[in-house]
Amino acid sequence: MTHNLLKGKKGLIFGALNDQSIAWKVAEKAYEEGAEIVLTNAPFAMRLGSVDELAEKCNTIVIPADATKVEDVENLIVKTMEFFGGKFDFILHSIGMSPNVRKGITYDNLNYDYFLKTLDVSALSFHKMLQVSRKHDALNDWGSVVALSYVAAQRTLYGYNDMGDAKALLESIARSFGYIYGREKRIRINTISQSPTATTAGQGIMGFDGLVDFSNRVSPLGNADAEECANFCVTMFSDFTRKITMQNIFHDGGFSSMGMSKRAMDVYNKNLDECCEDKDNDEFKDITYKIK
Ligand SMILES: NC(=O)c1ccc[n+]([C@@H]2O[C@H](COP(=O)([O-])OP(=O)(O)OC[C@H]3O[C@@H](n4cnc5c(N)ncnc54)[C@H](O)[C@@H]3O)[C@@H](O)[C@H]2O)c1
Repeated sequence: MTHNLLKGKKGLIFGALNDQSIAWKVAEKAYEEGAEIVLTNAPFAMRLGSVDELAEKCNTIVIPADATKVEDVENLIVKTMEFFGGKFDFILHSIGMSPNVRKGITYDNLNYDYFLKTLDVSALSFHKMLQVSRKHDALNDWGSVVALSYVAAQRTLYGYNDMGDAKALLESIARSFGYIYGREKRIRINTISQSPTATTAGQGIMGFDGLVDFSNRVSPLGNADAEECANFCVTMFSDFTRKITMQNIFHDGGFSSMGMSKRAMDVYNKNLDECCEDKDNDEFKDITYKIK
């Protein structure tokens, strides 16, 4: 069912690689809700992914741009404005990559060139697109910009590595630029902190399946999937959220407010029973009794 939430709006969507990508679902949903869109991704992704297929479905074009290269972003913004015949209304930043994660290098042994690359791709690219958009006065008043984040910006999650630092920077950029763009143009900038989601980037995280299961068990509403994230992004692009800016909004089924749930505790206790060799010991019984 569509609601025409984005009728008359135009937007630029970064980061649709394949039909699992969160950006892919956002593009489909935005188009369904009446928006005109332009798609972009890095040149390597044009070869590896299937974004052309999405462009055909959404009746639009793809403009390749490496989001870390200011000259690419300039070209992208100019061409997007040409395509739309003027300014547009929303941007989705759905970009993340860590060479340290990809190569299985742990946080206590980081390669610093890779670390800088992680920050550039996953966070500075957000600043670059905002700065270039502002320079070209590309966005209409009351426009909306959303970037996707993860709770590892606030909490340490095993295996998320230097991406946690990148997400903390991304969320900070949303606040710092949100002030400037808000006071000048009433443009709002927010991050959405999404549940772990089975995508190409998500599945690259060490222990991803365990992370998905754990957060699903802990969250009272269960994990949010990519389609649900797309619904939320579209709401944030609509006129129904005009006074929300400089926020990081958790879209995670309640995970970020939880500590331990019964569904997680049940698994933990079962494993504790199975893995403790000394489980007939009275002291151990006492502890397990207390935590049950
Ligand atoms: N999947 C999850 O569990 C999860 C959870 C929370 C937040 N996120 C965030 O959601 C966003 C989208 O990721 P996804 O899960 O849909 O995975 P994905 O792999 O489908 O998307 C990541 C995108 O980043 C693009 N990209 C990488 N380097 C780039 C560059 N230099 N220039 C332009 N684009 C570049 C890739 O081509 C790809 O399209 C990321 O910011 C990710 O961190 C994902």
